[in-house]
Amino acid sequence: MTITAPQSRSAPGSPQHETVAPVKLWLCPNDALPPAVATILAAHWLDEREHKTAARFLFERDRRQYLVAHILVRRALALEAGLAEAELVIWRSSRDRPFLQPLPGGLPRGGGHLDFNLSHAGGYSLLGIVRTQRIGVDVEGLDREAGALETILTTFTPEEQRWARSVPPGRQRDRRVLRLWTLKEAYTKARGLGLGLPFDEFAFSLAQDRGVLAFRPPADDTAGHWRFLELEPVPDVLAAVALPADGQAAPYLELHHGFPWDRAAPHTITLPGPVGAPHG
Ligand SMILES: CC(C)(COP(=O)(O)OP(=O)(O)OC[C@H]1O[C@@H](n2cnc3c(N)ncnc32)[C@H](O)[C@@H]1OP(=O)(O)O)[C@@H](O)C(=O)NCCC(=O)NCCS
Repeated sequence: MTITAPQSRSAPGSPQHETVAPVKLWLCPNDALPPAVATILAAHWLDEREHKTAARFLFERDRRQYLVAHILVRRALALEAGLAEAELVIWRSSRDRPFLQPLPGGLPRGGGHLDFNLSHAGGYSLLGIVRTQRIGVDVEGLDREAGALETILTTFTPEEQRWARSVPPGRQRDRRVLRLWTLKEAYTKARGLGLGLPFDEFAFSLAQDRGVLAFRPPADDTAGHWRFLELEPVPDVLAAVALPADGQAAPYLELHHGFPWDRAAPHTITLPGPVGAPHG
């Protein structure tokens, strides 16, 4: 992960930084929000649908994960948009993708467009926020059951399966499967398709340790090329971010750790260059 010291928005040599808000990423462990606090915030901030979903979980661990994730979404969106947490109206597409309902006069903190995407797994919530275009994110713990990973692997393209199987079973192969999986999820989530897009209809070619070397998009991809970021923000927790590369998004990202109680300085990460099919 290329992390540089926090820097101002007007990084030298890039006029874009003056005008375009950076992509923001929040990584929040469940532990950052004590259960009693989460219960109080959820009671005040979540909407009826979220309360109903939270009530349906069989295991307390899963309910906690869901509550922290949704409290994080409301807090971070409230900070970004300039609205109160309970005022945010979040609607879902026919494929269940959440969106922030736009306001007729724009957002109090400026701009009209704001896209976000959430992933929650293994005790962590990952939230991406962008002011242009779309974003998709995914987080997975490396402690997934080996049988499940073998099944996941069979959903990938033949060349991806060959690449993952070219290392022996165990941690090395698990890591390869999960790197591909998080990237594929981030991509389909940016597009709002979720698991509706078969994972063998598009392919990644990955560098040995981290980074996307090439991307073959599915036939219906109109954006053509994308920026993909792979992260391991905490040991054995893998994350991926997908952003269309033809928008005006700033070429860097701010990574915030923990719950957004305050405006602590984030890490600034340079986004990798675009990959994918050329336009035209
Ligand atoms: C999106 C999806 C792949 C995520 O699976 P996952 O890896 O188990 O879960 P993650 O933690 O990474 O992400 C879950 C979050 O992604 C977001 N999400 C859900 N559907 C999404 C979609 N189609 N596109 C982008 N993001 C989506 C939600 O915020 C969800 O969390 P929430 O339900 O608590 O709000 C999966 O839930 C899916 O395919 N959903 C679509 C289902 C669908 O097509 N439904 C049609 C109506 S039946």
